[in-house]
Amino acid sequence: MFNKRTKIKALLSSEQTDYEATVMGWVRTFRNNQFIALNDGSTNSNLQVVATLGDLDEAILKRITTGACIKAVGQVIPSLGKGQKVELKASSIEILGDSDAEKFPLQPKKHSLEFLREIAHLRFRTNTFGAVFRVRHSLAFAIHEFFNKRGFLYLHTPIITASDAEGAGEMFKVTTLPLDGTAPKNDNGSINFKDDFFGRSTNLTVSGQLEGELAAMAFSDIYTFGPTFRAENSNTARHLAEFWMIEPEVAFADLEDNMDLAEDFIKYIIAYALEHNREDLEFLAQRLEEEEKQKPQNERAEMGLMEKLDFVVNNNFERVTYTEAIEILKESNHNKKKKFQYLVEGWGIDLQSEHERYLVEKHFKKPVILTNYPKEIKAFYMRQNDDGKTVAAMDILAPGIGEIVGGSQREERLDKLTQRMEEMHIPAEELDWYLDTRRFGACPHAGFGLGFERLVLFVTGMTNIRDVIPFPRFPKSASF
Ligand code: 4AD
Ligand code: MG
Repeated sequence: MFNKRTKIKALLSSEQTDYEATVMGWVRTFRNNQFIALNDGSTNSNLQVVATLGDLDEAILKRITTGACIKAVGQVIPSLGKGQKVELKASSIEILGDSDAEKFPLQPKKHSLEFLREIAHLRFRTNTFGAVFRVRHSLAFAIHEFFNKRGFLYLHTPIITASDAEGAGEMFKVTTLPLDGTAPKNDNGSINFKDDFFGRSTNLTVSGQLEGELAAMAFSDIYTFGPTFRAENSNTARHLAEFWMIEPEVAFADLEDNMDLAEDFIKYIIAYALEHNREDLEFLAQRLEEEEKQKPQNERAEMGLMEKLDFVVNNNFERVTYTEAIEILKESNHNKKKKFQYLVEGWGIDLQSEHERYLVEKHFKKPVILTNYPKEIKAFYMRQNDDGKTVAAMDILAPGIGEIVGGSQREERLDKLTQRMEEMHIPAEELDWYLDTRRFGACPHAGFGLGFERLVLFVTGMTNIRDVIPFPRFPKSASF
């Protein structure tokens, strides 16, 4: 019985009238005791359902309240009202789920995104989050489509691991040992993990890259798309403790191939969203425009959302070395007038997001790929350049966000890799399985990681990363 319903998106996009349809959804508003704005999540647009007393029972009409779930059957007719071509004249309405108007937490007004974050279930039913999560879905689909078309194998890497892929120590521990102080200890007082569930110390993965490299040394082209976890105490609008990452790993590829792949990839998925999510993106563009109006003139973005997305799809990303970028930043008026919180004094510093955003938004005014960073500020697995100072790294920086992609050509030479690991105090015994890739048929290879939520943030024009993931996890917050 339920699968006979017509989705509101299909009903509204067809011009057809004078047929009977069954729709189901949630009441957004009920006006003049007659006009129901009904939404089923298939589109941001509501279907107007006309409920006329006489045709319908008064007791039923009373139960049509905001948030209630209903089934309506009736004729689809041309609409006399403004804003929609067709509407449904209900011949019967069934209440599937009541919603107590007195207790319903949302008012028919604009709520702050922070407030909505606290009512996770109704948040999905707002226009803004409806649009955001439909776009998020499309982007995920486009990602699989892109790699599938190019013959990449989708690899599932483990969520529980015993290694630290980034060597940055930002991991959440996984254990079943008691936390009341009775866990077995070594002579030196540290926890003895031999008695733990896995018989060793384990954590949630920070990246699937190392496992991905093993598979690339067999399938040539692979990608991962899964959750990753970082216990970094970054309370910002761009960091999550649990986020999704896409990590392609490609055999027979160098840094330039890697950049080409990343650029094609980003353009493809944005173009996909532009083609398939127009309505939602236009809604989000409108929303952003209104938000921008609240800002002082000099802080407003130069482009609207649609214009920005079109621009990214149709223009080449700027490719610049770290060394060139430092020169630009050092010589900038911004730096000279001490407008950066962290002044750029010279080569070797790690770039702060204010520096990345200056390069992208003020200097180049387009996405930028920064390459060849100092080895001291990058991970152990990146390929060392001949200058002895830099590695074949690349970060892609996006307007309004900063770093969206991090990647590199990998160090495939065993001696260079183990030497770098030693310098960085990364225990080789624990990564012996990884080093095997360099022992038996190594080849030049490269890969990158795209932070999925940072991409969704960029495409939707939202400002806080917590608003583009259904259930955000960040310091001091893991609700639901
Ligand atoms: O630059 P990262 O740390 O690189 C890696 O993890 C590599 N193993 C990727 C690879 O070469 N296969 O992270 C990659 C991307 C960043 O550019 C950023 O977009 C995102 O992941 N990211 C985060 N997104 C949200 N919250 C966080 N805390 C993030 N940390 C990184
Ligand atoms: Mg990075």
